[in-house]
Amino acid sequence: MGIETGAAWRELRTHYEQVAELQLTQIFADDPRRAKEFSLEFQGLFLDYSKNRITRESLDLLMNLADEVQLSAAIYDMFAGKKINVTEGRAALHTALRAPKSSRIESDGVDVVPQVHAVLDQMEEFSQTIRSGQWQGFTGKPIRNVINIGIGGSDLGPMMACEALRAYSQRNLNIQFVANVDGSDFAEAVQGLHADETLFIVCSKTFSTDETLTNARTARSWLLEQLVDKDAIAKHFVAVSTNTEEVQAFGIDTQNMFGFWDWVGGRYSLCSSVGLAVMVSIGATNFRAMLGGFHAMDEHFRTAPLAQNMPVLMALLGIWYNNFFAAETHAILPYDNYLKHFPAYFQQADMESNGKCIDKSGAEVAVQTGPIVWGQAGTNGQHAFYQLLHQGTKLVPADFIGFAQSHNPTCDHHDKLMANFFAQTQALAFGKSSQTLADEGVEAALIPHRTFTGNRPTNSLMAEKLTPFVLGQLIALYEHKIFAQGVIWDVFSFDQWGVDLGKNLAVEILHQLQSDEASNANIDASTAQLMARYRKGRGAS
Ligand code: F6P
Repeated sequence: MGIETGAAWRELRTHYEQVAELQLTQIFADDPRRAKEFSLEFQGLFLDYSKNRITRESLDLLMNLADEVQLSAAIYDMFAGKKINVTEGRAALHTALRAPKSSRIESDGVDVVPQVHAVLDQMEEFSQTIRSGQWQGFTGKPIRNVINIGIGGSDLGPMMACEALRAYSQRNLNIQFVANVDGSDFAEAVQGLHADETLFIVCSKTFSTDETLTNARTARSWLLEQLVDKDAIAKHFVAVSTNTEEVQAFGIDTQNMFGFWDWVGGRYSLCSSVGLAVMVSIGATNFRAMLGGFHAMDEHFRTAPLAQNMPVLMALLGIWYNNFFAAETHAILPYDNYLKHFPAYFQQADMESNGKCIDKSGAEVAVQTGPIVWGQAGTNGQHAFYQLLHQGTKLVPADFIGFAQSHNPTCDHHDKLMANFFAQTQALAFGKSSQTLADEGVEAALIPHRTFTGNRPTNSLMAEKLTPFVLGQLIALYEHKIFAQGVIWDVFSFDQWGVDLGKNLAVEILHQLQSDEASNANIDASTAQLMARYRKGRGAS
């Protein structure tokens, strides 16, 4: 029996029929207190969710849904280290990565907090030697280039956070990211770099991911082409992993290995040693401030009543559109260029977590689960896809994220940026009626084309400035939103079996592509034809 058979869901369905046609223009006109009442502030992070197609009753009913699925108990279980990642037999304890030293959090009866802080201290010591120039490469030169080799959670998190906090970075260090197995990614990253000034962080939870190991081997060859002596590897490679054996097998000195634990999911691992490149870039003090922001939001999520709980509210609003308005996607639109990788980061976090069609009992779900998450930093998107947001046939709920202060206050750029943020949410919500256009004297034939129906929902998130603390708050906010939605849809949010099939087939196909004779065993006609074309094209048929 799925969630759709419960009383809360059925009541929401009936309620949806009653309110689906409500217009934001009207409900704002009817209630002058709406903006204030449908807003929430937590330690400087402000959420205005008044431009959503909800009434107070909608919220009450959504809260009933959260109660019916026992969301509070699920939150408790996650923080307590219960093995909620059932299909992999693990806890999901990423919140322990940002817990203060004084806390005690157990996994399998062991307090993990001292281990977490020991690794943070190890990271601090290492990043300080790089930042100060004390760490010398094989020829005695300081490191100027740091290249993180990893993919998925071992790439997107540190890449996003390095960019988000670039204003806090040590500018004489060039931090780069190589993820794609496409050789062009590596080739372009090392263009013009000298191996004796370059350090590679091979970042892989499992240390078995083919893309990462392929890039790491190429990096090792590139380094040895220039420095020749194998002893150079110890000075130019460090590893971030849970897999000591494989790190050793690769040839990286385990003295230069930063560990983490199987209770940290890849896409939730930024606060672990996976964030090493970030700490090298912004320094330990800023990194710890970011952890402080994460922890603050963790505590808010863990303790605030559901009706005043920011991640819970955002989760329920997402459910409202995804499951009742049949919205298929959700846009994240940061009005801060430093957050340009934020949508891609949460694309993985959300879609790998809740892109599931099987519920926890093993049955097919009867309701829609995770949305397609996408987005881009403003105002670029306005000149690309906002046409569809304003006048398309699809409903795209969107989160706008903006800041009162810029890290680069240049002339009136920031006022202009934020004017666009405010204008877009206003236009999406309230539109422009045909009557107004007629009153303005717009030619009758053009009126339908120039009408904006409005009633397109948005959340607005604002903070004073994009600091490390605020970034931590924002990331934890979305992490917990995803978790809460997974609880409601009754899916296992912390596994990712859906990535396995393609990965395994690629191994077999690679074998065939690299063998002298094409056997085509187990290959369908279409794929066999494409492979034949590829073989011919590359000159190996
Ligand atoms: O895409 C599958 C996945 O397992 C992600 O969940 C993970 O972030 C990524 O691959 C990289 O994994 P690893 O850190 O083990 O190399």
